[in-house]
Formats: sequence, structure tokens, C-alpha cells
Amino acid sequence: MSVNTISPNKTVDESRQGEAFAVVADKPHEGPLFYIESYGCAMNFSDSEIVASILGECGYAATRNMEESDLILINTCSIREKAEDTVRKRLRIFNKLKKKRPGVLIGVLGCMAERLKTKLLEQEKLVDIVVGPDAYRDLPKLINTATDGEKGINVHLSREETYADISPVRLESNGISAFISIMRGCDNMCSFCVVPFTRGRERSRDTFSIIAEATALFKEGYREVTLLGQNVDSYKWSNPETEESVNFAQLLEMVAQVDPLLRVRFSTSHPKDITDEVLHTIAKYDNICKYIHLPAQSGNSRILKLMNRTYDREWYMERVEAIRRIIPDCAISSDMITGFCTETEEEHQDTLSLIEFAKYSMSYMFFYSERPGTLAARKYEDDIPLDVKKRRLSEVIEVQHRVQLALNQKDIGKTFEVLIEGDSKRSADEWRGRNSQNTMMIFPKTAVGQPGEYVMVKALSTSTTTLRGEQV
Ligand code: SAH
Ligand code: SF4
Ligand code: F3S
Repeated sequence: MSVNTISPNKTVDESRQGEAFAVVADKPHEGPLFYIESYGCAMNFSDSEIVASILGECGYAATRNMEESDLILINTCSIREKAEDTVRKRLRIFNKLKKKRPGVLIGVLGCMAERLKTKLLEQEKLVDIVVGPDAYRDLPKLINTATDGEKGINVHLSREETYADISPVRLESNGISAFISIMRGCDNMCSFCVVPFTRGRERSRDTFSIIAEATALFKEGYREVTLLGQNVDSYKWSNPETEESVNFAQLLEMVAQVDPLLRVRFSTSHPKDITDEVLHTIAKYDNICKYIHLPAQSGNSRILKLMNRTYDREWYMERVEAIRRIIPDCAISSDMITGFCTETEEEHQDTLSLIEFAKYSMSYMFFYSERPGTLAARKYEDDIPLDVKKRRLSEVIEVQHRVQLALNQKDIGKTFEVLIEGDSKRSADEWRGRNSQNTMMIFPKTAVGQPGEYVMVKALSTSTTTLRGEQV
């Protein structure tokens, strides 16, 4: 996990961040082996599963052991400077291995590949393959090029690619929760953000392929899907045959109808786009989880304007009130950035008070990291000293932790439906699972309940991130 990423409540992607993960062929494999590491957001983890599928088609099997692999891939993130530093460190380690075994190919995938393009081949001499997020179908060809001793690079961004027809190979899956990518790219131009440059234009995936994937996952025993996009509320797919279009509320409803036992989650919602229609759909279906990740970024309207978020503090607060009105038991989480260009102490206070107002159950909190080429880098001076950014970040974290602890304390004595995910990290005598609000619950095993099943758990005690309880 990158150092300036401080997440009080690890989500699936965060806790897996930086881990090498792969399915190991269940039967002895004759052909070549690949090893893949993923960094960054859930979209990247989901993309690695698409890459695994493409490589599987051309005879590769995955390995967890880098030492025995023929191809080492790293799926990278550019969101903050630290994220890129981590990748550079890993590349140095891979390169040591390549010195011992020159036949091994090293490939950089994802956002850093897209951002740095040929510079990666120049700066990191031992990188053989550079592939941007829209070019994964080209991997087999690029591997061949690299095997022939040339550098393989494709960083073409597409307006159409959604990999709709590719069945992801689930990597390191618990067999219960899976990501489904519903769109790619981003058309917002938040001034701090590199994603529109690394992921290209927004496009939505064929609704039918999404439903088919959710249905197949359910049949395989999965009980939770998370629909992924940078801005899921702007999902819009038009059926080329009927010209009818599907929006996010309608898509949510269709996925919820796959089976009442399939939990549906989604991320990320953009405060400017989340509609009452979506909120009513969440309220209508028990299996759509009562949890919305609604990143505010800042609590101050002037800063939000500089960030080009296109909403202000009042708009954001109104959306929070709408959530409370329409879905009273809904948890809300956020992302926050401290020390954005020109932010004053009073404006920083507005962020603290917004956290108190929204009562987030969790937040990803960062200090501002200038990214080359973004609107902010071109227009505004990165003028808040690092120590001030960090001090404000620690204040944000402190308030957030206080708020979420108080929220968890209010849950003590309440009973929740929990989907069992597996053993708790500490003990094989306890289960771990989440309630609809996405809070982790730990409870002793009883005769009733197995991973993938729902049980009722009463909360008895809490920490900042976890509720402990017992089955009832
Ligand atoms: N699409 C999502 C965000 C994806 S990036 C949304 O709009 O909410 C994940 C988070 O990284 C952002 O919400 C933001 O809080 C943080 N982030 C993005 N760029 C950053 C930067 N330059 N410095 C610090 N944090 C940044
Ligand atoms: Fe970045 Fe903004 Fe798009 Fe999110 S909505 S990915 S923060 S540009
Ligand atoms: Fe990082 Fe790219 Fe995701 S920059 S946060 S991996 S979209």
C-alpha cells in the first residue's frame, strides 16, 4: 500500500494492493508461466483478470512464484507519485531476476504504461513490453515481438474497447465476491486527476454481457458482485438493435434481479451524477447493499471549484440528505484530499466539518500529489508545503476515525445480515463477513453457516473498523 494512502478500513482491493496474485494451474502445465502483480484501484485488479484470460487463451498459466515465471507483469497505477515510486521499486527487483535469467520478459501494464509510454522503455532499460489499459488484446502479439528481441509497445486508447466478450479469470478469488467492470475511462476532468489521461474516454459496456457475467458468477457460487467504473452513475448503454438505452439505475435493477441471494455493490458514485432514481432502486431491493462510496474530495466550495468537481458543498450535503431520506440505513464513505493548491486553514476546516456532517463509515484520505499534465499541474501552483499537507491529513484522519468509531458504537446491540467470506484473519475459530453497510463483522463459528451463506449476527463490541459479534 502506498505510504500516503491511509485507509482505516481496508477494502478488498486495498488489502490486496501490491500482493502478487494468480491462479495456479490445477493440473501440471506444459506451456509458459506468467506472474502478475497489481497496484491501484479495483479497476486494475479487474483488468488483471482480463489479462489472465487473454494469456490463458494463448497457452500461458499463472504462477505465484516469480522465480519460475517466463513473463513477469506489473499492472500499475499513476494516481499519486508514491504509487509510481512503488512500481519503480518492484521493477528493480524484477530486473535483478532478469539479469540471472535473461530469457524472462518483463511487461508494464496499466496507467503508468499509458502515462509514460516509450519513456518507460528508455528509463527502465529492462522493460520489454509496455501495454496501456485498452490494448490488452494485443498482448500475445507484443509478447512475440519481445521474444524476438524487439520492444513491444501498444498504448493506443480506444473509444470502444470494453472487453465485453472476455470472461475474466478470477485471480486469488475467495469464490464469493467478484468485480464486474461496467464501464471504462472517465470524461470528468477533475483538475488533480490523471485518470482521464491514462484511461481515456468514458464508455459503457453492453448491458447483456454484464447480466450474463453476473448470472454466470452466481451459478458458480458467487454471492456478491461489485459493479465497477470511475463514475458508475453516468453508465449509459444503447442497444444498437432497439436503440433503447439503459442507465445506471436500470442496470442496478437488472443485476439485482439475477437472484435475491446475489448481493450487489457498486463503486464509484460521483456526487454530481447520483440521482434519486438510483437511490430509490437501492432502497427497493434488499440485495442491493446499503452502502454508497461518494467521494467528496473537499468540504469547501472554492476548493471544489478549483478541483473542477462541478458541485459545491451545499450540493454535496443535499445529496447526503437525499440518501438519508430515501435509504435511512445507508452507510456513506468518501475520498478526501488535503492541501490542494491554495487551500487555506479555514477551507481545510470545512473538510473536517463535512466529515462530521456526512458521518462517513470509512474514507480514503490522501494529501495532494501533483500529477504531470493534469489541469491543476498546468494552472495552479502546488503551494501548500508538504508538512502542512501532512498535518491537515492527520487532522482529517483523526476526525474520520472519531466519526466512524461513534457510528460503529451505535451499531452495538443491532443484528445484521452478514455474508460469510471466510475465516477471520486472526483465528480459524471465527468467521469474517460484511453487513450490507460494508462493515466487517467477526464472530465465532457455530454449526450454522459456511462461506457464501448469509447469517444473522448481533454486534457486541467494536473497534474503528470492525464489529465483533455473535450469531443469533
Ligand atoms: N473516480 C473516482 C476516483 C478515482 S481516484 C472519483 O471520482 O471519486 C481515487 C482517489 O484518489 C480520488 O477520489 C482522490 O481522492 C485520490 N486522488 C486522485 N488524484 C489525486 C492526486 N493527484 N493527489 C492525491 N489524491 C488523489
Ligand atoms: Fe478522476 Fe474525477 Fe474521473 Fe474520478 S471522476 S476518475 S477523480 S477525473
Ligand atoms: Fe490508479 Fe489507474 Fe486506478 S491511475 S487509481 S490504477 S484508474
